[in-house]
Amino acid sequence: MGKNQVNTLDSFLSHLESIFSVTIHDAKEIIDTFHREMSSGLAGMKSSLKMIPSFVGPPSGTEKGKYLVLDLGGTNIRVLAVELDGKGNTSMAAVSRFVIPQEMMCGAGDAIFDYIADCIKLFFEKNCIDRQKTYDLAFTFSFPVEQSSLASGKLIGWTKGFTASGVVGNDVVALLSAALRRKEMGFIHVVALANDTVGTLVAKCYSDPSCDMGVILGTGTNACYPEKVARILKCPVLGLSGKMIVNIEWGGFSQLKMNIYDQDLDCASRNADKQHLEKMVSGMYLGEIARRVIVEMMNRGLLFKGTNLSAFSREYMLHTEHLSLVAQGSDFFADFGLRDVSEVDRGTIRELCRIVSTRSAKIAGAAIAAVVTWMDANFESDHTIAIDGTLFEKYPGYQDHIVGVLRELFGECAKRIRLELVRDGSGIGSAIIGAVAASARPVSSGDDCGRHRI
Ligand code: BGC
Repeated sequence: MGKNQVNTLDSFLSHLESIFSVTIHDAKEIIDTFHREMSSGLAGMKSSLKMIPSFVGPPSGTEKGKYLVLDLGGTNIRVLAVELDGKGNTSMAAVSRFVIPQEMMCGAGDAIFDYIADCIKLFFEKNCIDRQKTYDLAFTFSFPVEQSSLASGKLIGWTKGFTASGVVGNDVVALLSAALRRKEMGFIHVVALANDTVGTLVAKCYSDPSCDMGVILGTGTNACYPEKVARILKCPVLGLSGKMIVNIEWGGFSQLKMNIYDQDLDCASRNADKQHLEKMVSGMYLGEIARRVIVEMMNRGLLFKGTNLSAFSREYMLHTEHLSLVAQGSDFFADFGLRDVSEVDRGTIRELCRIVSTRSAKIAGAAIAAVVTWMDANFESDHTIAIDGTLFEKYPGYQDHIVGVLRELFGECAKRIRLELVRDGSGIGSAIIGAVAASARPVSSGDDCGRHRI
């Protein structure tokens, strides 16, 4: 669209509305393309959906004990001791949270794994855990990993702003185990590696077997579901019966209409031309999309009377939390040194936040719809979808938009889809996966093969 055609505020806003729109026709197209890409991904053919076998099936609900979990997902590391009662109930016996410094995210891979090992050491010290014994640990690693077994897998590529060197292409369990040995923590054995979506699905399934999808809508976004092993054509060695959870890595879906702001954001990102869906949907990017629009509107004289041109100049300075504040009826202007913002400008920012976040929720809704219909085209069963992430949990109106898309697409059948918030699923689910791994180990003499639970 030419500059002259969009130089009044109203026409610019309706231009934005149209380039960020997701119509019901678009949603149906997303579903069809998703199905094609899922099928190619499962067959090991070229696809923007990686469809990664997790080597984990749905849990039985009887897994029991207290397990150690390391959860590396985004800007935080969590070390947890999770208690499972064998009857579908879980509790966190201990949790420690550590922030990953920015320089670690982008530094040397060994440094980040050494830092993680130090965090585990602190957790042992704080909780006075005996270091003369050996322990099993389940590792939640929320990045695309090509798993070769339950406890090994190579990082395909970093997402969510990480670029640490020496990790892509390497086995992340081996890297963690080596760091644990360097830090004299070799008595900890990594028995399971799981994506956060897999953890979230397993955590919900533990108490509710109708759950058949795990979704994360937070800093990053992704989903998983239990697939018939016979349909995972790229892994014929898996055997033909039963189900295995498949990590879709839907953040990589590339068949979406990107507008000029999406394209610019993508080009300037640390992983250009990757994670297209994630960059249009997840919490890491919504603020940055809005910031890019704000800068253009200021340049056109359509916001803040064109006077605050430097206020939004730094990339990623506007966060999804800021947009969320606006959606709650508050604002973020003080954080940007803006005083006396006019009512018109406030209204414009409100519209912009609505436009950017609504598109995110609608794409998420279409992607959920695609996975549900892949599993059950005729809605023969109920589907409980376990969802974690601040976007889903906290962004005002976000869940309603997802439900709205499902209703528009499926009418009455949409009632068969239940969206359920599952907090901390990534950690709890990994503990359950760790329990399955520990119980699958052949029992010899001694207590639990000499391994101790915490
Ligand atoms: C990663 C996924 C992860 C998702 C949510 C994405 O960036 O590629 O593996 O599940 O974020 O944390």
